[in-house]
Amino acid sequence: MNRVENRAESSPTADTARHLMFDDLEKLGRILVQTGDVAHSFVQGADDMDATCRDFSAFDPSRPLPQKGRGTLDALRAVQDEILPLLAASIGPRYLGFVTGGTTPAALVGDWLAGAIDQNATGPEGSVNAAVEEQVINWLCEIAHLPAKKFDGVLTTGATVSNLLGVVAGRQWCGEKVGVDIDADGAGALPDLELFAASPHASMVKDLSISGIGRNNFTKVATLSGTEQTDVNALKAKLAASDARGKIVIASSGTVNATDFDDLTAIADLCAAYGAWLHVDAAFGMFAALDDRRSHLLACLDRADSITSDGHKWLNVPYDCGIFLTRHIGVLEKCCRAFAPYLDTKAEGNMYINRGVENSRRFRALPLWVSMQAYGREGFAGIIRANCDQAADLAAWVRTHEKLELLAEPKLNVTMFASVGSDDDNRALLERINASGKLFLTPTVYGGRFGFRAAFSNWRTQDHDLVIIKQAIDAVL
Ligand SMILES: Cc1ncc(COP(=O)(O)O)c(C=O)c1O
Repeated sequence: MNRVENRAESSPTADTARHLMFDDLEKLGRILVQTGDVAHSFVQGADDMDATCRDFSAFDPSRPLPQKGRGTLDALRAVQDEILPLLAASIGPRYLGFVTGGTTPAALVGDWLAGAIDQNATGPEGSVNAAVEEQVINWLCEIAHLPAKKFDGVLTTGATVSNLLGVVAGRQWCGEKVGVDIDADGAGALPDLELFAASPHASMVKDLSISGIGRNNFTKVATLSGTEQTDVNALKAKLAASDARGKIVIASSGTVNATDFDDLTAIADLCAAYGAWLHVDAAFGMFAALDDRRSHLLACLDRADSITSDGHKWLNVPYDCGIFLTRHIGVLEKCCRAFAPYLDTKAEGNMYINRGVENSRRFRALPLWVSMQAYGREGFAGIIRANCDQAADLAAWVRTHEKLELLAEPKLNVTMFASVGSDDDNRALLERINASGKLFLTPTVYGGRFGFRAAFSNWRTQDHDLVIIKQAIDAVL
């Protein structure tokens, strides 16, 4: 009996399914062209699409798995019919929710290729992928004026995981200073670790839970009045009062609401004086370095022990792409190393498997590399400057509007505002604004008031979008 007969006897259904895949492989060229057309019309259409979909009840998540498939082109038609009409046009120019970056054409190309190549980017074994990641990390350091000789890092799934790495590496470093090995013996070996934070992002609070430190287990530092900025004197007093053997200070370069930047020079001095690890969450704020009107806000970022940033926000690469940079790569590698004989390699280069949470990893350096190659420093500086100008333009309009109030002066790319009405009025107004489909804003509470955040983070937002945004808000006021 030959092998084909044997397979047919043992599993005829699986064989048919494999046959469909080989059929698809044969017509892959046509499939990719058609997929390209579908993607192209979605991307081009995002300017005019509703910014969000409010009713996706037509999609039934409980539908059972098809027993037999009908191949990729059939599935592509199903995507067009069942999924694409029900999506948020979050890549569009007036999606101002959260801090949502779009996708540059070059980043999309890099992302598609990363899928086609499907490289498990664990390290340098038999592939240039680790060297590409190293180059991207170097370019990111160059953007942020961080000496690449001092800083190294890893691409993560997002700023949440980068913040987690900051806490884990910082904790290990604190332990090692007093002869405790938390990597080996666990968090309980340094029970008096103390974290200090004024305006930690929600993801950092979540990371405190994940890392076993505890959501509530940090010392809250006061902010300067009317801001989200760390009050350095208050931090000094808390550090001076602490007798913890391990201390981590969490600072912010660009808070998610008021886009406030901490005084890193003063905070780095305090960390040096009190032997604390300095972690800076600069998820999108790091790219203020590309705007010469704002780069001073990042003075002394190079004194941070670890830095969080994101590619999928302001660098406009597709999800997912986070950035973690540190001056203590050895400490990170100690915490994240994955050792097994089958993972051993003699290949030279960075083992990214040993620098983060994931073992298997997408080749996420590629979209960044292609986009950086395509547009260069100036291309990215253009996005940052334009988005900051757009936030300032919206703020100027709000300031002179009789029915609207600015909740804080935007320092970067986020404008927070509200109507002069009550919080309930504003909740209803936000519903009406988003129901227009012309733009999408997310809510916030700032200074005790309910308001809206307009976060400009997309390369596609242009002056005429500001006109549409203002008209749409005026129409429902
Ligand atoms: C300052 C800051 N840190 C961390 C995060 C979490 O980022 P991610 O969603 O990429 O994990 C965000 C997201 O908005 C942020 O603004």
